[in-house]
Amino acid sequence: MALFMNYNEEWSDYKIIASGGGEKLELWKDIILLRPDPQAIWPAAFNLSSYKGLHARYIKSGGGGNWEYYLPMPPQWTVSWRSLNFIIKPMGFKHTGLFPEQALNWDKVITLIKGADRKISVLNLFAYTGGATLACASAGAQVCHVDAAKAMVERAGENARLSNIDSGIRYIIDDCFKFVQREIKRGKKYDAVIMDPPSYGRGPSGETWKIESGLYPLVSSAAKLLSDKPLFFLINSYTTGLQPTVIKNILNTALKGYGGTCDAYEVTLPTMEKTLQLPCGASALYIFK
Ligand SMILES: C[S@@+](CC[C@H](N)C(=O)[O-])C[C@H]1O[C@@H](n2cnc3c(N)ncnc32)[C@H](O)[C@@H]1O
Repeated sequence: MALFMNYNEEWSDYKIIASGGGEKLELWKDIILLRPDPQAIWPAAFNLSSYKGLHARYIKSGGGGNWEYYLPMPPQWTVSWRSLNFIIKPMGFKHTGLFPEQALNWDKVITLIKGADRKISVLNLFAYTGGATLACASAGAQVCHVDAAKAMVERAGENARLSNIDSGIRYIIDDCFKFVQREIKRGKKYDAVIMDPPSYGRGPSGETWKIESGLYPLVSSAAKLLSDKPLFFLINSYTTGLQPTVIKNILNTALKGYGGTCDAYEVTLPTMEKTLQLPCGASALYIFK
Protein backbone atom coordinates (compact mmCIF):
# COMPACT_ATOMS: atom_id res chain seq x y z
CA MET A 1 0.00 0.00 0.00
CA ALA A 2 1.50 3.30 -1.02
CA LEU A 3 1.75 6.04 1.53
CA PHE A 4 -0.23 9.17 0.88
CA MET A 5 1.45 11.69 -1.37
CA ASN A 6 4.11 14.13 -0.22
CA TYR A 7 4.62 12.49 3.16
CA ASN A 8 7.77 14.46 3.88
CA GLU A 9 6.27 17.78 2.87
CA GLU A 10 2.99 17.24 4.69
CA TRP A 11 4.47 15.80 7.88
CA SER A 12 7.46 18.10 8.15
CA ASP A 13 6.62 18.34 11.90
CA TYR A 14 6.93 14.58 12.45
CA LYS A 15 9.68 12.11 11.59
CA ILE A 16 10.85 8.69 12.79
CA ILE A 17 14.61 9.11 13.10
CA ALA A 18 15.37 5.44 13.81
CA SER A 19 13.69 2.26 15.02
CA GLY A 20 14.53 -1.16 16.44
CA GLY A 21 15.16 -3.01 19.68
CA GLY A 22 11.48 -2.57 20.59
CA GLU A 23 11.56 1.24 20.39
CA LYS A 24 11.14 4.16 17.97
CA LEU A 25 13.02 7.47 18.08
CA GLU A 26 10.72 10.27 16.95
CA LEU A 27 11.07 13.95 16.14
CA TRP A 28 7.90 15.89 17.05
CA LYS A 29 8.65 19.36 15.66
CA ASP A 30 11.81 20.06 17.69
CA ILE A 31 11.30 17.61 20.56
CA ILE A 32 12.85 14.12 20.37
CA LEU A 33 11.03 11.26 22.12
CA LEU A 34 11.92 7.57 22.47
CA ARG A 35 8.89 5.29 22.90
CA PRO A 36 8.34 1.53 23.07
CA ASP A 37 7.06 -0.07 19.90
CA PRO A 38 6.16 -3.77 20.12
CA GLN A 39 6.48 -4.20 16.34
CA ALA A 40 10.07 -2.89 16.07
CA ILE A 41 11.69 -6.25 16.85
CA TRP A 42 14.65 -5.78 14.47
CA PRO A 43 17.97 -4.52 15.93
CA ALA A 44 18.42 -0.74 16.00
CA ALA A 45 21.30 0.66 13.91
CA PHE A 46 22.70 2.39 17.03
CA ASN A 47 21.88 2.77 20.73
CA LEU A 48 18.68 4.82 20.50
CA SER A 49 18.71 5.83 24.18
CA SER A 50 22.11 7.53 23.83
CA TYR A 51 20.96 9.71 20.88
CA LYS A 52 22.25 13.26 21.33
CA GLY A 53 19.31 15.60 21.75
CA LEU A 54 16.89 13.04 23.22
CA HIS A 55 14.40 14.92 25.41
CA ALA A 56 12.38 12.10 26.98
CA ARG A 57 11.93 8.35 26.97
CA TYR A 58 8.94 6.26 27.99
CA ILE A 59 10.16 3.33 30.11
CA LYS A 60 7.80 0.37 30.36
CA SER A 61 7.44 -1.41 33.69
CA GLY A 62 4.84 -4.06 34.50
CA GLY A 63 1.52 -3.13 32.92
CA GLY A 64 2.37 0.59 32.83
CA GLY A 65 5.44 2.77 32.71
CA ASN A 66 6.68 6.33 33.06
CA TRP A 67 8.43 9.12 31.18
CA GLU A 68 12.05 9.93 32.00
CA TYR A 69 13.19 13.44 31.07
CA TYR A 70 16.76 14.23 29.95
CA LEU A 71 16.61 17.73 28.45
CA PRO A 72 14.44 20.76 29.27
CA MET A 73 11.22 20.74 27.23
CA PRO A 74 7.79 22.40 27.39
CA PRO A 75 4.97 20.41 29.07
CA GLN A 76 3.11 20.51 25.76
CA TRP A 77 3.58 21.90 22.24
CA THR A 78 1.86 21.71 18.86
CA VAL A 79 2.50 20.01 15.54
CA SER A 80 0.80 20.80 12.24
CA TRP A 81 -0.47 18.71 9.36
CA ARG A 82 -1.91 20.78 6.48
CA SER A 83 -4.18 23.37 8.17
CA LEU A 84 -4.64 21.25 11.31
CA ASN A 85 -2.82 21.84 14.59
CA PHE A 86 -2.55 19.28 17.37
CA ILE A 87 -1.35 19.50 20.97
CA ILE A 88 1.40 17.01 21.75
CA LYS A 89 1.95 16.07 25.38
CA PRO A 90 3.71 13.05 26.91
CA MET A 91 0.94 11.13 28.71
CA GLY A 92 0.32 7.76 30.36
CA PHE A 93 0.54 4.54 28.32
CA LYS A 94 3.29 6.13 26.14
CA HIS A 95 0.67 8.32 24.42
CA THR A 96 1.46 11.73 22.93
CA GLY A 97 -2.11 12.63 21.92
CA LEU A 98 -1.73 11.90 18.22
CA PHE A 99 -1.28 8.96 15.85
CA PRO A 100 0.63 10.54 12.92
CA GLU A 101 0.23 7.45 10.71
CA GLN A 102 -3.51 8.20 10.59
CA ALA A 103 -2.75 11.03 8.16
CA LEU A 104 -3.00 8.32 5.50
CA ASN A 105 -6.68 7.89 6.40
CA TRP A 106 -7.27 11.63 6.97
CA ASP A 107 -6.11 12.23 3.39
CA LYS A 108 -8.53 9.59 2.06
CA VAL A 109 -11.61 10.85 3.95
CA ILE A 110 -10.88 14.49 3.05
CA THR A 111 -10.76 13.49 -0.64
CA LEU A 112 -14.05 11.54 -0.36
CA ILE A 113 -15.90 14.30 1.53
CA LYS A 114 -14.73 17.05 -0.83
CA GLY A 115 -15.54 14.87 -3.86
CA ALA A 116 -19.10 14.22 -2.63
CA ASP A 117 -20.03 17.84 -3.37
CA ARG A 118 -22.80 17.85 -0.72
CA LYS A 119 -22.96 18.28 3.06
CA ILE A 120 -21.68 15.03 4.62
CA SER A 121 -22.41 13.94 8.20
CA VAL A 122 -19.80 11.73 9.87
CA LEU A 123 -20.00 9.61 13.02
CA ASN A 124 -16.50 9.22 14.52
CA LEU A 125 -16.36 6.52 17.24
CA PHE A 126 -13.42 6.08 19.69
CA ALA A 127 -12.50 9.50 18.36
CA TYR A 128 -9.71 10.28 20.88
CA THR A 129 -8.11 13.75 20.40
CA GLY A 130 -9.86 14.38 17.12
CA GLY A 131 -7.41 13.61 14.31
CA ALA A 132 -10.07 12.15 12.01
CA THR A 133 -12.73 14.53 13.35
CA LEU A 134 -10.70 17.60 12.39
CA ALA A 135 -9.77 16.12 9.02
CA CYS A 136 -13.47 15.59 8.17
CA ALA A 137 -14.52 18.98 9.56
CA SER A 138 -11.75 20.71 7.58
CA ALA A 139 -13.26 19.18 4.42
CA GLY A 140 -16.66 20.68 5.30
CA ALA A 141 -18.36 17.72 7.04
CA GLN A 142 -20.58 17.83 10.13
CA VAL A 143 -18.94 15.47 12.65
CA CYS A 144 -20.27 13.70 15.73
CA HIS A 145 -17.18 12.94 17.85
CA VAL A 146 -17.69 10.19 20.46
CA ASP A 147 -15.19 9.03 23.09
CA ALA A 148 -15.44 7.74 26.66
CA ALA A 149 -12.60 9.89 28.01
CA LYS A 150 -13.62 13.45 28.97
CA ALA A 151 -10.01 14.66 28.87
CA MET A 152 -9.58 13.38 25.29
CA VAL A 153 -12.85 14.97 24.12
CA GLU A 154 -11.74 18.27 25.67
CA ARG A 155 -8.38 17.93 23.90
CA ALA A 156 -10.21 17.40 20.61
CA GLY A 157 -12.04 20.69 21.25
CA GLU A 158 -8.73 22.46 21.92
CA ASN A 159 -7.23 20.97 18.75
CA ALA A 160 -10.25 22.20 16.78
CA ARG A 161 -9.85 25.74 18.17
CA LEU A 162 -6.11 25.67 17.38
CA SER A 163 -7.06 24.63 13.84
CA ASN A 164 -9.63 27.46 13.50
CA ILE A 165 -12.52 25.01 13.28
CA ASP A 166 -15.22 26.64 15.37
CA SER A 167 -18.38 24.88 14.17
CA GLY A 168 -19.60 21.60 12.71
CA ILE A 169 -18.44 19.28 15.52
CA ARG A 170 -20.73 17.72 18.14
CA TYR A 171 -18.71 16.38 21.10
CA ILE A 172 -20.11 13.39 22.99
CA ILE A 173 -18.63 11.70 26.08
CA ASP A 174 -20.23 8.25 26.03
CA ASP A 175 -19.75 4.55 25.54
CA CYS A 176 -19.64 4.00 21.77
CA PHE A 177 -21.91 0.95 21.74
CA LYS A 178 -24.54 2.59 23.99
CA PHE A 179 -24.41 5.82 21.98
CA VAL A 180 -24.97 3.95 18.70
CA GLN A 181 -28.00 2.11 20.20
CA ARG A 182 -29.46 5.46 21.38
CA GLU A 183 -28.91 7.07 17.96
CA ILE A 184 -30.72 4.12 16.30
CA LYS A 185 -33.73 4.68 18.63
CA ARG A 186 -33.65 8.42 17.86
CA GLY A 187 -33.70 7.63 14.12
CA LYS A 188 -30.44 9.51 13.48
CA LYS A 189 -28.65 9.02 10.15
CA TYR A 190 -25.03 9.58 9.05
CA ASP A 191 -23.43 9.55 5.60
CA ALA A 192 -20.16 8.15 6.88
CA VAL A 193 -18.81 6.22 9.86
CA ILE A 194 -15.23 6.14 11.17
CA MET A 195 -14.07 3.97 14.05
CA ASP A 196 -10.68 3.35 15.63
CA PRO A 197 -11.44 0.87 18.42
CA PRO A 198 -8.76 -0.16 20.92
CA SER A 199 -8.18 -3.84 21.82
CA TYR A 200 -9.66 -3.23 25.28
CA GLY A 201 -11.43 -0.16 26.58
CA ARG A 202 -13.88 1.19 29.11
CA GLY A 203 -16.94 3.36 28.64
CA PRO A 204 -17.48 6.29 31.06
CA SER A 205 -19.59 4.08 33.37
CA GLY A 206 -17.14 1.18 33.27
CA GLU A 207 -18.69 -0.54 30.21
CA THR A 208 -16.22 -3.12 28.88
CA TRP A 209 -15.05 -2.99 25.28
CA LYS A 210 -13.26 -6.00 23.75
CA ILE A 211 -12.47 -5.83 20.05
CA GLU A 212 -12.84 -9.57 19.31
CA SER A 213 -16.38 -9.84 20.62
CA GLY A 214 -17.45 -6.21 20.22
CA LEU A 215 -16.34 -5.21 16.72
CA TYR A 216 -18.89 -7.01 14.56
CA PRO A 217 -21.92 -6.09 16.75
CA LEU A 218 -20.78 -2.44 16.76
CA VAL A 219 -20.21 -2.32 12.99
CA SER A 220 -23.55 -3.97 12.21
CA SER A 221 -25.32 -1.60 14.65
CA ALA A 222 -23.59 1.45 13.17
CA ALA A 223 -24.67 0.25 9.70
CA LYS A 224 -28.28 0.90 10.83
CA LEU A 225 -27.37 4.59 11.15
CA LEU A 226 -26.37 4.95 7.50
CA SER A 227 -28.29 7.49 5.43
CA ASP A 228 -30.05 6.75 2.13
CA LYS A 229 -26.91 7.93 0.32
CA PRO A 230 -23.95 6.73 2.38
CA LEU A 231 -20.40 7.73 1.40
CA PHE A 232 -17.90 5.58 3.31
CA PHE A 233 -17.27 3.39 6.35
CA LEU A 234 -13.68 3.39 7.68
CA ILE A 235 -12.28 1.12 10.40
CA ASN A 236 -8.75 1.35 11.77
CA SER A 237 -7.20 -0.99 14.32
CA TYR A 238 -3.92 -1.15 16.21
CA THR A 239 -4.72 -4.59 17.62
CA THR A 240 -1.82 -6.94 16.92
CA GLY A 241 -3.02 -9.87 14.85
CA LEU A 242 -6.07 -8.12 13.44
CA GLN A 243 -5.15 -8.37 9.76
CA PRO A 244 -6.50 -5.88 7.20
CA THR A 245 -8.47 -8.74 5.63
CA VAL A 246 -10.28 -9.44 8.94
CA ILE A 247 -11.54 -5.84 9.01
CA LYS A 248 -12.46 -6.04 5.32
CA ASN A 249 -14.44 -9.26 5.91
CA ILE A 250 -16.32 -7.62 8.79
CA LEU A 251 -17.23 -4.63 6.62
CA ASN A 252 -18.20 -6.75 3.60
CA THR A 253 -20.40 -8.94 5.82
CA ALA A 254 -22.08 -6.12 7.75
CA LEU A 255 -22.63 -4.03 4.60
CA LYS A 256 -23.75 -6.91 2.34
CA GLY A 257 -26.23 -5.70 -0.22
CA TYR A 258 -24.78 -2.23 -0.65
CA GLY A 259 -22.58 -3.27 -3.59
CA GLY A 260 -19.73 -0.97 -2.64
CA THR A 261 -16.01 -1.66 -2.75
CA CYS A 262 -13.74 -2.31 0.21
CA ASP A 263 -9.99 -1.69 0.25
CA ALA A 264 -7.97 -3.15 3.15
CA TYR A 265 -4.41 -2.06 3.83
CA GLU A 266 -1.59 -2.08 6.32
CA VAL A 267 -0.86 1.36 7.78
CA THR A 268 2.85 2.17 7.98
CA LEU A 269 5.15 5.13 8.57
CA PRO A 270 8.38 5.78 6.71
CA THR A 271 11.52 6.14 8.80
CA MET A 272 14.60 8.22 8.06
CA GLU A 273 16.45 4.89 7.78
CA LYS A 274 15.09 4.71 4.19
CA THR A 275 14.94 0.90 3.93
CA LEU A 276 12.66 0.55 6.99
CA GLN A 277 8.94 1.21 7.31
CA LEU A 278 7.29 1.05 10.72
CA PRO A 279 4.10 -1.07 10.74
CA CYS A 280 1.37 0.79 12.66
CA GLY A 281 -1.85 -1.15 12.21
CA ALA A 282 -4.52 -2.03 9.73
CA SER A 283 -7.42 -0.24 8.08
CA ALA A 284 -10.27 -1.04 5.74
CA LEU A 285 -12.25 1.57 3.83
CA TYR A 286 -15.64 0.67 2.36
CA ILE A 287 -16.78 3.11 -0.30
CA PHE A 288 -20.49 2.97 -1.14
CA LYS A 289 -21.66 2.89 -4.75
C1 LIG B 1 -6.61 4.16 20.07
S1 LIG B 1 -7.59 5.52 20.60
C2 LIG B 1 -8.22 6.04 19.06
C3 LIG B 1 -7.21 6.77 18.18
C4 LIG B 1 -7.78 7.95 17.37
N1 LIG B 1 -8.96 7.57 16.62
C5 LIG B 1 -6.76 8.61 16.43
O1 LIG B 1 -6.59 8.22 15.28
O2 LIG B 1 -6.06 9.53 16.86
C6 LIG B 1 -8.91 4.70 21.45
C7 LIG B 1 -9.93 5.63 22.11
O3 LIG B 1 -11.07 4.83 22.46
C8 LIG B 1 -11.66 5.35 23.65
N2 LIG B 1 -12.52 4.29 24.21
C9 LIG B 1 -12.15 3.08 24.72
N3 LIG B 1 -13.25 2.36 25.07
C10 LIG B 1 -14.34 3.12 24.78
C11 LIG B 1 -15.76 2.92 24.87
N4 LIG B 1 -16.25 1.80 25.38
N5 LIG B 1 -16.56 3.89 24.39
C12 LIG B 1 -16.04 5.05 23.89
N6 LIG B 1 -14.72 5.29 23.77
C13 LIG B 1 -13.87 4.34 24.20
C14 LIG B 1 -10.49 5.78 24.50
O4 LIG B 1 -10.90 6.77 25.43
C15 LIG B 1 -9.50 6.30 23.43
O5 LIG B 1 -9.61 7.69 23.30
